[in-house]
Amino acid sequence: MYGSSVKVLVVGNGGREHALVRGLSLDPQVSEIFALPGNPGMAGAATLVAGSTTDPDYVAETAIELGVDLVVVGPEAPLVAGVADAVRGAGIACFGPSAQAARLEGSKAFAKEVMVAAGVPTATGVHCREMSQVEDAFARFGTPYVVKEDGLAAGKGVVVTDNEDAARAHAAAIFARGGSLVVEEFLDGPEVSLFCLCDGENVVPLSPAQDFKRALDGNDGPNTGGMGSYSPLPWAPPDLVSQVVNTVAVPTVQEMARRGTPFVGLLYCGLALTSKGVRVVEFNVRFGDPETQVVIPRLASPLGQALFATATGKLADFGDLQWKGTAAVDVILASPGYPQSAQTGGKITGVTQADALENVHVIHAGTKREGDHLVSSGGRVLAVVGEGATVEQARQRAYAGMALITLEGGHYRTDIAQL
Ligand code: AMP
Ligand code: GLY
Repeated sequence: MYGSSVKVLVVGNGGREHALVRGLSLDPQVSEIFALPGNPGMAGAATLVAGSTTDPDYVAETAIELGVDLVVVGPEAPLVAGVADAVRGAGIACFGPSAQAARLEGSKAFAKEVMVAAGVPTATGVHCREMSQVEDAFARFGTPYVVKEDGLAAGKGVVVTDNEDAARAHAAAIFARGGSLVVEEFLDGPEVSLFCLCDGENVVPLSPAQDFKRALDGNDGPNTGGMGSYSPLPWAPPDLVSQVVNTVAVPTVQEMARRGTPFVGLLYCGLALTSKGVRVVEFNVRFGDPETQVVIPRLASPLGQALFATATGKLADFGDLQWKGTAAVDVILASPGYPQSAQTGGKITGVTQADALENVHVIHAGTKREGDHLVSSGGRVLAVVGEGATVEQARQRAYAGMALITLEGGHYRTDIAQL
C-alpha cells in the first residue's frame, strides 16, 4: 500500500494514544513512531517529543521537522483547534477531521442538526440558551432529565438525573459560564461504542465495545471519561455493526461531504440499543478512551496501513478489517477524588509485575516518571488490559494484573465486563 518505512507522529498523552502507539509498533510497515508529548508507557516504542498539542502551527512544524508521513491525532481538543487542517495544509497525511468536521463532537447542537438532516436516529433534543427553554423541555420530555453542555467537557458535561433541582442546577451553571446546552429525551437500553474509519466518503467499522462511564460499581456515581471496557460484545445482535454503518455512519459521512466539510478520521458512534431500535447518544470525532485499549489489541489487520488508507482517501482499496477472534477487557485505575477533583502525585507500584503476566499489559494514561518510580499525574492513571479467548477469561486476567498495582487512595471498579 505504501513504502516499507512509514514514520508516524501520534498526538496526545493518554491511554488511547498509548494503545495506538502499541498497535502501530506491531505493524511491520511502521518504521518509526513519535509521540507529542506522549507518556512514560510509550517511551519504549516511540520517541517522545515535548510541546503543545493544540497549537496547529506547532504540530504541523513538528511533523515537518520529524519528516513523518502520517500524523494521528488522538484527543478531540487538537482537532477542534484545527490541528488536522494545519497538518494537511503542510502536505502531510493526517488521521483526524478538520476543525469544521470536528464540530460533530465540539458542539452537541451541531451534531443534532447534522443527525436530523441526515435522518440518523437519535434522541429528540432542544438547544436551550435560557432557563425558560430548559423548563419547557423538562416538561416535554419528563424524567430522567438529560442536560448536555454544548461544548467539549471531557465526558463530564452531561447530567442524567431524576432530580429536577440537580438538573436545573447543572443548566444554571452552564448558563452562568456563558454556555448553552441541549436537553433531550432519555434513551434507555445498553450502550455500545462503535468506531468507524471514514475517509471522507467510505466507512469501515471496527469491532464494537462497551464502556463503563459511571465512577462506581453498579453504574453508580458521577459520569467519568470511562472506567473500563470490553470487546467484543457477545450479546450484541449479529447485524448491529452493519445496521449502524448503514443507518448512522454512512448517512453522516454523506451529509458532511454534502456540506463541503468531509469527515476524515474516526467517527465514534456512541449508541443506545433502545426498545425502539438503535439511537445515537453522542458522536465523538476520535478513538474512544478506554475502548481503544480493548479494540486495538484484537485487530489482526495492520493498524498503520488502516490509518494511512483512511487519511489518504483509500479505504475502498483497503477493504474490511480482520479480527483475531479474541476478547479484551480493560480496567482503569483512577486517582483519589476522580472525577470531581483528582489528587495527583501518588506513587504507583506493581506496573512491571502486572505487565509481566501472560496476556496482560498495562497502558499508561496519567503517569509520570519521578526518579526511579512512577507517580500519578492525571485523573485516570492507567488501564490494565487482559486478553483471552472469552470476555470472562480476559476479565480475570485484567483483574489479576490490577491486583498487583498499588496507588494510595486510588480506585477502580470491580464489576467491569461482568456479563
Ligand atoms: P455524552 O457525552 O453525550 O456521551 O453523554 C455521556 C453519557 O451520558 C452517555 O454515555 C450516557 O451514559 C449518558 N447519556 C447521554 N445522553 C443520554 C440520553 N439521551 N439518555 C440516556 N443517557 C444519556
Ligand atoms: N469512552 C468515552 C469516550 O471516549 O468519549
